[in-house]
Amino acid sequence: MTENSTLPTIAVLGGTGKEGKGLAYRWVKAGYRVIIGSRTQDKAERAARDLNAICAKELVGGQKNLSAAKEADIIVLTVPYSAHKLTLEEIKDAVQGKILVDVTVPLVPPKVTKVQMPQAGSAAQEAQKILGENANVVAAFQNISHEHLFDDAPINCDVLVTGKGKSARLKVLNLVEDAGMKGWDAGVIENAAVVEGMTSLLIYINKQNIVKSAGIKITGAESKTQEYRN
Ligand SMILES: NC(=O)c1ccc[n+]([C@@H]2O[C@H](COP(=O)([O-])OP(=O)(O)OC[C@H]3O[C@@H](n4cnc5c(N)ncnc54)[C@H](OP(=O)(O)O)[C@@H]3O)[C@@H](O)[C@H]2O)c1
Repeated sequence: MTENSTLPTIAVLGGTGKEGKGLAYRWVKAGYRVIIGSRTQDKAERAARDLNAICAKELVGGQKNLSAAKEADIIVLTVPYSAHKLTLEEIKDAVQGKILVDVTVPLVPPKVTKVQMPQAGSAAQEAQKILGENANVVAAFQNISHEHLFDDAPINCDVLVTGKGKSARLKVLNLVEDAGMKGWDAGVIENAAVVEGMTSLLIYINKQNIVKSAGIKITGAESKTQEYRN
């Protein structure tokens, strides 16, 4: 579990929360340097200290969202949908020329088991509109429950990766694989609507079956993630 300086630095904005902290944990274990982003410096530093202690490494720092985004090569957004637009507007300048991985699901409480997509088509398309064409928004991990992430076992759920630009999607597929999951290049950003919508179905299935971490698996094909990396 040592830092690999050839790997990009990842900022996880909202990384003090359930999903972001879990993803950060997985990337730190894989040797990435991670910056936890938060609205408050204190909270970011606390989350970073926790992760360093759990992983017995010093690979995690904590900063406010904007400075975390400035310093990182790849930015991962894990905030509630209600905070999506505001957070993106705040970091817009810092993510130009970079990849923003959008994990946000446009849930509309209290009816989170009902698909309610925004006018732009998906949260990812909204993000792309806000950030402009000089940033690559790639949507991923929306169907991965945080319940899996602090478990060290490989996760038996697949990650569909959609977004702007094949090479950006392939870079995110590497992050998926390094986090211990199987990823699929699922095409253009318009396809993110299907993946984001699927989360409401999974939450419904969780409730019906009294479980917390239903996910999806693609069958009948072989993922080319390993091949992409070579
Ligand atoms: N939880 C899951 O299992 C799961 C699975 C797949 C996708 N997702 C998606 O991932 C995103 C994060 O989910 P989560 O469960 O991790 O959420 P969360 O724990 O409720 O919140 C994550 C972080 O977002 C920041 N935040 C909360 N409210 C905010 C506000 N009003 N304005 C700005 N920032 C705010 C907070 O960070 P600071 O206070 O430090 O700024 C918080 O720690 C959501 O879009 C969710 O739909 C979650």
